[in-house]
This record gives sequence, structure tokens and C-alpha cells, in this order.
Amino acid sequence: MHSDPRSPIGIIDSGMGGISIRTALVRAMPHEETIYWADTAHCPYGGKARKEIVQLVRAGVETLLTEGVKIIVVACNTATTAAIATLREEWPEMPFVGLEPAVKPAAETTRSGIIGVLGTEFTVRSEMFRTTARRYASGVRVIPVAGNGLVEAVEQGLEEAPETERLLRGYIEPLLAAGADRLVLACTHFPLLAPQIERIIDGRDMRLIDPAEAIARHTREILAASGLLYEPNGVTTEAPIHHFISTGGAEAAERLRLRAEQYAARLRKR
Ligand code: DGL
Repeated sequence: MHSDPRSPIGIIDSGMGGISIRTALVRAMPHEETIYWADTAHCPYGGKARKEIVQLVRAGVETLLTEGVKIIVVACNTATTAAIATLREEWPEMPFVGLEPAVKPAAETTRSGIIGVLGTEFTVRSEMFRTTARRYASGVRVIPVAGNGLVEAVEQGLEEAPETERLLRGYIEPLLAAGADRLVLACTHFPLLAPQIERIIDGRDMRLIDPAEAIARHTREILAASGLLYEPNGVTTEAPIHHFISTGGAEAAERLRLRAEQYAARLRKR
């Protein structure tokens, strides 16, 4: 197992969703190198069976281990829900960071006492989700919604398509009508749809909860606590290297890199 601060951070997602997490990681740890593994060939994961998702994510972990990563961020709610326990069992020395729906910050800040959770079918129907909701949102009404079709829309670059807006409205309007004032983005693809979601909720009392920054802080803490955070002393002119690997091939990896750059540029403008 690699335990060198100069080793890269590994990131896993079924496709482009990990971009939302990766951007926060790079902001929080600007000197760190990253390697992002996207399972584009098998995306989306959300409608698959647990066993199959575990199998697919395992392949991602193996690839990242070959690349010598020091930590793996499973930047996918679905993959975390399906596989994180198995991964921790199979690679006990590798630190894994997973994503659970950010029900806690939503429940702590809601004023209406009603929160919506938009995730994949797999995530919102899972036992892990029910446990998280019970643990962190007692006394709060949690309304889960399976955002079918949205992952595909992001993968195909169809954020601005009328069909995507129709899907989003179909998921979000009923939540607004029910009085939800927090919307947990429980799939890492969905922050890539934030401008479109914000247009729909414009002027209404609803706030989006994106876990990316909290995950980046948590990852930083784990690295710092284990002496694996790379923080060069003094001025360094070395720019960290960021790699993108896709099971969809070199073209898909290049698309991923471009989208990651666009997303980071959009957040910088905010
Ligand atoms: N980004 C993944 C998540 O957070 C999307 C899963 C999928 O491929 O359906 O759940």
C-alpha cells in the first residue's frame, strides 16, 4: 500500500458526477495530484443490482491501486451505498471516503421541517438511506425522489435540453408544493445541473445542499491525520498533475477532463 504524501488522490464515479467532488478536492488541496476513474462504459449505475455495482467499482479500485493512490474518494452516492462496506473489508489498509446523502445539514437548517432528497433509484430505495434519514432527520419529513434520466442527461451534455428541464420540473415542483425548503443533491451528477435547478426554484424558499465541500474537508482531515497530506513548504512552481481515466476510452476521458475544467471555471465565477 502506498503511504507517501506525494501519491495522488483517487476518485471514482460511474461517469461525470465525480467532477463536482473533484473540484472541491482540488480547491481544498491545491497541491495534490488526482486520478479520476470514470466507468463511462457502464454508466448509469442507479438502476443496476448491488452485486453488479460492487463488481464494477472493484475494477475501479484495482485500477487506482495500480496507479499508486494514497486514498480513494468514492465520489458517487450509488457506488458508496452499494459497495463501500465491501471495499473497506477487501482493502482494510486503504482509506476510503464515501458519500451519503447530506440529510444532516438539511435537517439541521430546514425551517419548514420538510426536506427533499434527489438521488438515484438505487440510493433512495436503499437501507443505508433509510438509516441515515432515521438517524439525522428525526422530526423532519424527508421526501425521497428518484431522479431517473438525469444522470444520462449530464453524461450526454443535455443540461439545457427541454426534456431535461421537463424531468427536473417533474421532480422538483411536487417538493416545492409539499413545502420542502431544502433539496439534498444525493447524486454527484446533480450539482452539474445546479444552474438548471436554480432556474426552477428561483424566487422560492428552497436551498440546494451539495456535499462536495464537506467531503473535501473530510478528505483533507483524513490525509492530515495520517501524515499523507501534501503541503510543500515555501513556494512551489510545480503544477500538480490531474489524470482522467475512463472505461469508455480515451475520447471519453478527454470529454471528462474538459467538463471538469468547465465546471471548475463556472464555480470560480460565482
Ligand atoms: N454519480 C452517481 C451518484 O452519485 C451516479 C450514479 C449513476 O450512475 O446512476 O449516485
